[in-house]
Amino acid sequence: MDLIKTDNNMYIVITGGAGFVGSNLIKLLLKKTNKKIISIDNYSSGTKKNHVKSKKVKYIKSDTKKYIFSFKKSKKNSFIISLR
Ligand SMILES: NC(=O)c1ccc[n+]([C@@H]2O[C@H](COP(=O)([O-])OP(=O)(O)OC[C@H]3O[C@@H](n4cnc5c(N)ncnc54)[C@H](O)[C@@H]3O)[C@@H](O)[C@H]2O)c1
Repeated sequence: MDLIKTDNNMYIVITGGAGFVGSNLIKLLLKKTNKKIISIDNYSSGTKKNHVKSKKVKYIKSDTKKYIFSFKKSKKNSFIISLR
């Protein structure tokens, strides 16, 4: 079952991916989908200890406010889950 019905080139972007909920969500998404995942986190409370090791996950250190806008402008096909 595909948890999120999107095309395979679509990225799932998670803001707050280095936090408690975000890191567990990334683990779940890796099990349930085939999608590439990008975490955007400013590490204000999150930690690299929560990183999930996978080629499919990319971690970007940035404040959500700065990054989401430029990501949208890049026109990459994306599905954004905002925890922050
Ligand atoms: N943990 C729970 O049981 C629980 C229950 C219900 C709701 N929530 C909600 O879920 C959300 C996440 O909770 P959590 O427990 O994972 O918190 P957390 O602090 O572990 O994770 C939040 C993450 O967001 C990052 N972050 C904060 N501001 C940011 C910004 N401006 N740009 C980029 N990254 C930023 C932090 O560094 C952290 O990694 C919160 O909104 C919380 O209120 C949590």
